[in-house]
Amino acid sequence: MSDLNSIGFTQAQREKRRVNVAILGAGRIASHMAETLMRMNAHPSLSNIINPYAVASRSLDRAKQLAHRYRITKAYGSYQDLLCDQKVDLVYIATPHSLHAEQATSCLQAGKNVLVEKSFTINARQANEVLSLARARGLLCAEAIWTRYMPSCRILHDILSSGQLGHIRAASANLCYPTTSKARMTDPSLGGGALLDVGVYALNFLDMVFQAEPVKTIHSTASLYATGVDESNSTTLIYRNGALGIAVSSMSVSSDRTGTIWGSKGYAVCYNINNIQKIETYNTDHQLLHTYEMPPQITGYEFEVEAAAQAILAGHVECPQMPHADTMRLMEQMDSIRQLCGVHYPGEN
Ligand SMILES: NC(=O)c1ccc[n+]([C@@H]2O[C@H](COP(=O)([O-])OP(=O)(O)OC[C@H]3O[C@@H](n4cnc5c(N)ncnc54)[C@H](OP(=O)(O)O)[C@@H]3O)[C@@H](O)[C@H]2O)c1
Repeated sequence: MSDLNSIGFTQAQREKRRVNVAILGAGRIASHMAETLMRMNAHPSLSNIINPYAVASRSLDRAKQLAHRYRITKAYGSYQDLLCDQKVDLVYIATPHSLHAEQATSCLQAGKNVLVEKSFTINARQANEVLSLARARGLLCAEAIWTRYMPSCRILHDILSSGQLGHIRAASANLCYPTTSKARMTDPSLGGGALLDVGVYALNFLDMVFQAEPVKTIHSTASLYATGVDESNSTTLIYRNGALGIAVSSMSVSSDRTGTIWGSKGYAVCYNINNIQKIETYNTDHQLLHTYEMPPQITGYEFEVEAAAQAILAGHVECPQMPHADTMRLMEQMDSIRQLCGVHYPGEN
């Protein structure tokens, strides 16, 4: 883990109150987050750290509907109005990928901490600019890639360090959903394509397995959608220690969502890398060694919110579960993959 920079006391700390959380955008994932905040607010051990404070949409009606349904205090009909509210401590950015950098920048410039949906930005250059600004301003900036914050991530690391699988030399992950009917998925101007939407989870799974091991070579190929974004992609990463990772994602088919980890003494099968439900380990004779069930969840999004709130209250600019260096590593990998596959977004060189 990288060092966490301390920035002193935040407004929430000074006033000894809960972190006021706001949602920017009122689409699909925003509804899940609104439900999460409502249920966290009713939870005995989580209600004392966050407050479901505000939602902003381009449409005041949509913002009001979400606020009413999930008992959020304030509804704003523009993102700018949200940023003018001095009481907002943390903005969760729930818009298409191409808007994350600009919106995170506006939030940080307005003095707000940010939790930015995956993919963090559309490329590493944007990511670096946003993260540098957050550090310069002393504000929390974290990527909301929920699997990093879940107990399953720690359980996976415990299995790997237990030695039961021997030397880990390869891993694979796939995540595919048929989602081409959603406009943002196919539109290059919104950062569309399978890679940034779901491929990031497959790469993230490999990153959770191999952690900061440097990548030596990337091989990648994609079938392109009519709009020029990647419909399906397949990537092989060769790490400097000789290990091999395989990541596959698609927006046109459904897949088993499995992550597998191959070691010299056995292998592990992780069911659903998009929210690991169960991990099984096997020996070299394919006999089941252990089955690991995952702890209960509210929605699964509570872990990232709790981590962000705790980081803000502690005066940190990054979350230990997903430090800035890890966000940058994934963004750089996706830049390389898009380069190899010939996927470019408007405005990129
Ligand atoms: N963690 C997860 O499990 C998960 C799951 C799904 C999606 N995501 C991520 O969450 C983000 C949003 O995905 P989503 O599925 O919620 O998308 P969505 O349903 O299309 O919602 C996106 C929202 O962004 C706002 N927006 C602002 N400018 C926009 C524009 N020019 N075009 C379209 N929408 C615009 C809109 O809200 P208003 O008009 O109300 O302002 C829209 O409803 C993406 O980064 C995605 O990768 C994460």
